[in-house]
Amino acid sequence: MPVRIALPRDAQALALLGERLWRETYTGLIPESNLNLHLAETFGLAQQAAELADPACTMLVLEEAGQLLGYALLQNHPSKWAQVPFVRPMEVVRFYVDRSLHGRGAGGQLMAAALSHAAARGHDGAWLQVWDQNPRAIRFYAKMGFTDAGEVSFRIGEQVDRDRLLVRPLDARDATLSQDSSVEPGFRHPPRL
Ligand SMILES: CC(C)(COP(=O)(O)OP(=O)(O)OC[C@H]1O[C@@H](n2cnc3c(N)ncnc32)[C@H](O)[C@@H]1OP(=O)(O)O)[C@@H](O)C(=O)NCCC(=O)NCCS
Repeated sequence: MPVRIALPRDAQALALLGERLWRETYTGLIPESNLNLHLAETFGLAQQAAELADPACTMLVLEEAGQLLGYALLQNHPSKWAQVPFVRPMEVVRFYVDRSLHGRGAGGQLMAAALSHAAARGHDGAWLQVWDQNPRAIRFYAKMGFTDAGEVSFRIGEQVDRDRLLVRPLDARDATLSQDSSVEPGFRHPPRL
């Protein structure tokens, strides 16, 4: 499944996808009021347009037949957690794949693209937070080479949850992890009319 860098015109589709996949993942596990507060803060045309315009952010998307079916939001910024051991860390801020694709390797393709992208830009490590009640995602990240660096917190609406902090060193070899030319360094997606 092709992975590409999202464009400004993807903002609305990403806002809808982001909200839908968050609901799919956490409904029934997080109180509805906090879920709604978090969704209102995080997803919407303005929020995703701002993320796409932010030079520190890269949004990678999985696309099939013109439909967005997964995304990874990467952010190049200093970590707020001392346990992140890298000099030039890249945060995987959000990582979501449509349920119809789970267990078919799409997440692996998207993560390979994310790690390639980060390594090719000279990042020496990637890090992310995952809810400690999300064992499938924790297993998936372990399969992708992440290791546990301790417990951190994550606010959702008015609740504060316990997350695992996961880290993965990167080196130049990781830049070739993804076979997808659209996330290789120097690539510019051609404008679509
Ligand atoms: C975590 C996630 C990204 C993994 O992506 P994926 O494309 O399913 O990854 P894989 O194909 O490698 O599958 C991961 C594992 O889950 C299992 N799995 C995933 N979906 C499954 C399903 N519907 N039925 C049975 N097993 C499934 C796979 O067998 C695999 O196990 P294995 O490593 O022992 O083979 C994806 O499940 C997802 O988006 N989940 C919801 C969002 C989420 O939790 N994001 C993380 C937030 S921090």
